[in-house]
Amino acid sequence: MTGNAELILDGKSLSLPTVTGSEGEVGIDISSLRAKTGAITLDPAYGNTGSCYSDITFIDGEKGILRYRGYDIADLAEKSTFVETSFLLIYGHLPNAEELQTFSNLLTENQMLHESMRFNFQGFPASAHPMAILSAMINAASSYYPNLICTVNRRERFPNHAARLISQVRTIAAYSYRVSHGLPTIFPKSSLHYTENFLHMMFSNPGEDYELKPEIVRALDMIFILHADHEQNCSTSTVRMVASSQANLYASASAGVCALWGPLHGGANQAVLEMLEQIHQDGDDGTKFLKAVKDKTSNRRLMGFGHRVYKNFDPRALIIKAQCDKVLAQLHRSDPLLEIAKKLEEIALNDDYFISRKLYPNVDFYSGIIMRAIGIPVDMFTVMFAIGRMPGWIANFKEVMENPDSRISRPRQIYTGETLRSYRPMAERA
Ligand code: ACO
Repeated sequence: MTGNAELILDGKSLSLPTVTGSEGEVGIDISSLRAKTGAITLDPAYGNTGSCYSDITFIDGEKGILRYRGYDIADLAEKSTFVETSFLLIYGHLPNAEELQTFSNLLTENQMLHESMRFNFQGFPASAHPMAILSAMINAASSYYPNLICTVNRRERFPNHAARLISQVRTIAAYSYRVSHGLPTIFPKSSLHYTENFLHMMFSNPGEDYELKPEIVRALDMIFILHADHEQNCSTSTVRMVASSQANLYASASAGVCALWGPLHGGANQAVLEMLEQIHQDGDDGTKFLKAVKDKTSNRRLMGFGHRVYKNFDPRALIIKAQCDKVLAQLHRSDPLLEIAKKLEEIALNDDYFISRKLYPNVDFYSGIIMRAIGIPVDMFTVMFAIGRMPGWIANFKEVMENPDSRISRPRQIYTGETLRSYRPMAERA
């Protein structure tokens, strides 16, 4: 459906076309605005700006809907695997048995890092954050494929590079953990599935294989599925922005890792755990902490709460919360941090500060408690998010590359600095 919007600027009327997405979302197409009027739109932090058309993921933040390629997230979390979901996101349909086998084979064939990359790992100080290692190593991986300069004209190679990146992000992540803890690196095993292999590379030791418990493998696989895509967020839009310059897949994904790192985005899962640990150490049940959060001068936020798009609930948070209880019960564990998290949620959901601002738990609020129960260190939490998000970034990269109308992304600005002034020699300056 298309229509028109009327804009009146300085008394002159301009008709702008509207576009409607397949779920009824309406956008006003302002692409001719500057050429026709000289004016631009101003939308800091892009809260109202659609930067692209996309067929990949649909979110309705008011209703708490999240769908990958039309499939509901709860359906996928319950019935799919991360590898199958990755195929779905990148290629647009659920794979048949042969397609899934081919994709899995490609993941296995590409799981080993180039031998020389060992030296890159050794160059990082012991204090390096695993996200710094991850972004650097993904970018470094591109240097082993010199003909990769631009993927646009090399579509036939895309499936290999996509599989290599999904497979190697997991290998790099596990190696960065092993190296930063002074442990020997463990090779992946071809006989293991994707998430099993990650746990094996993280926790096995020479001569002593990590015991793979199906409930832990399933919980982690589900965490990866829940993180696999989320339409135009900070990191995915960064990937698309970098891809729009026709930079290669690895460079674009590496930029995504950097954007994800911040505590307002993927880094929130680490921040949540650190917040819960602090509350626990202070002997608080969350009540004092929430009082401080509501006092704006404290500059504190309830990490893992709030979302730019979800204004009712985050469907991923509901699934993860239920999974959290399940995993701890299966492992016969209790965690005081889970009790604090539940208390924080209960108080916040009944408190006018949070109700009036429509602040609800997001995906990061409970995921850290599951990862902690599995034994994943806190500074690896955001890396886990990056492993999960990789197929979404790749799908978005592919969409940019395959769009014949794609142009380099280049926003405008409203300049608020000094107007023209003359250069004065040093002696004349006050
Ligand atoms: N705790 C306390 N107050 C909050 C929180 C929070 N977690 N989040 C938002 N607010 C308040 C703001 O102070 C602001 O209040 P005001 O209107 O009185 O000034 C209001 O709610 C709106 O907040 P904004 O920052 O304008 O919301 P925005 O959409 O820009 O930010 C964000 C969304 C970054 C997620 C924010 O809610 C936040 O910082 N949350 C904590 C960090 C977090 O969990 N990030 C992960 C997000 S999910 C993801 O990226 C995977």
